[in-house]
Amino acid sequence: MNNRQFRLAARPVGLPKRSDWQLTTEPVAQPVEGQVLVKVLQLSLDPAMRGWMNEGRSYIPPVGIGEVMRAGGVGKVIASKDPRFAAGDHVSGTMGVQEYSLAEAKHFSKIDLRMGTIPQWLNVLGMPGMTGYFGLLEVGQPKAGETVVVSGAAGAVGQTVGQVAKIKGCRAVGIAGGRAKCDFVVNELHYDACIDYKGGNVKDGLKAHCPKGVDVYFDNVGGEILDAVLTRLNRGARIVICGAISQYNNTTPVKGPSNYLSLLVNRARMQGMVVFDYADRYALAVKDIAQWMREGKFASREDVVAGIENFPETLNRLFSGENFGKLVLKVAEE
Ligand SMILES: NC(=O)c1ccc[n+]([C@@H]2O[C@H](COP(=O)([O-])OP(=O)(O)OC[C@H]3O[C@@H](n4cnc5c(N)ncnc54)[C@H](OP(=O)(O)O)[C@@H]3O)[C@@H](O)[C@H]2O)c1
Repeated sequence: MNNRQFRLAARPVGLPKRSDWQLTTEPVAQPVEGQVLVKVLQLSLDPAMRGWMNEGRSYIPPVGIGEVMRAGGVGKVIASKDPRFAAGDHVSGTMGVQEYSLAEAKHFSKIDLRMGTIPQWLNVLGMPGMTGYFGLLEVGQPKAGETVVVSGAAGAVGQTVGQVAKIKGCRAVGIAGGRAKCDFVVNELHYDACIDYKGGNVKDGLKAHCPKGVDVYFDNVGGEILDAVLTRLNRGARIVICGAISQYNNTTPVKGPSNYLSLLVNRARMQGMVVFDYADRYALAVKDIAQWMREGKFASREDVVAGIENFPETLNRLFSGENFGKLVLKVAEE
């Protein structure tokens, strides 16, 4: 058996190019004691992958030049030398952009496909869902009746944030690019309103749809949208710094918020979060979200692209907004 793998060939400047990647093939090795061999079925393509390609200190070490690109995914165990896993088990974990993943058993967790499909396990039941759930509830601390604004509202994290906010009794206002995404956010995710930042002015949209101001802002994009929301904060508002995708491919320094003194005036706070800090409680969030899905209260949307060879172009869809829902790369059939 051969394993096709995407390796990082060069550190990108701006948007990653084909030449920043190398597609290699090597034979699949068999597991030794404590290891599990997994056939990769579907991979999660995440904005964070852009950050992992950069040199420098972060919450996780960068991917080294020549290394297989890091990626979360779902796969099926085909051989196991660990008593916790058997051939045929479905698992999630850090698979890498490759067709087979061989690693120590501790890197994988079993998943139950009766709770959700494979793309849902990479979305609302997976890392983005955990980010939205814990980021909103733990850092945003929304109270019933408050207004929660979410950028990247139609995306993977944004889907969970708005729906959890509604379940907790808040007014949820999304910000997304384009009419189709805004319609989805309101009609399928049941946000109260959605501002199309590509089709109009965000400040005007906030004035119209947040008549009582903003209590929680869940920021997935940074840049000018963050600055616009800062002008509408209520006293004691909480801003969750989850991501800043508008800045990830900058070739100039990251644009910081110029309206930050609104935090002072409004006794507000801005706090960063990293989902992995909540790993010991993922099971609780998965239980809640799976229950809401069963009750028909919680929707999900995934955008699945087939073919590992399409990885470089597919990853870049995140930065043009071409993905509609959680972006998933299908590597193999069962
Ligand atoms: N802190 C954590 O632990 C953690 C964990 C997971 C994800 N994140 C962050 O959460 C954010 C969302 O991630 P995701 O996986 O849910 O991705 P996603 O929203 O499914 O996909 C990315 C979306 O970002 C929007 N976007 C791209 N460029 C933009 C720009 N210049 N200005 C405004 N919007 C832009 C696009 O939507 P539109 O079409 O609406 O523009 C695009 O579809 C990212 O910043 C990511 O880094 C953080």
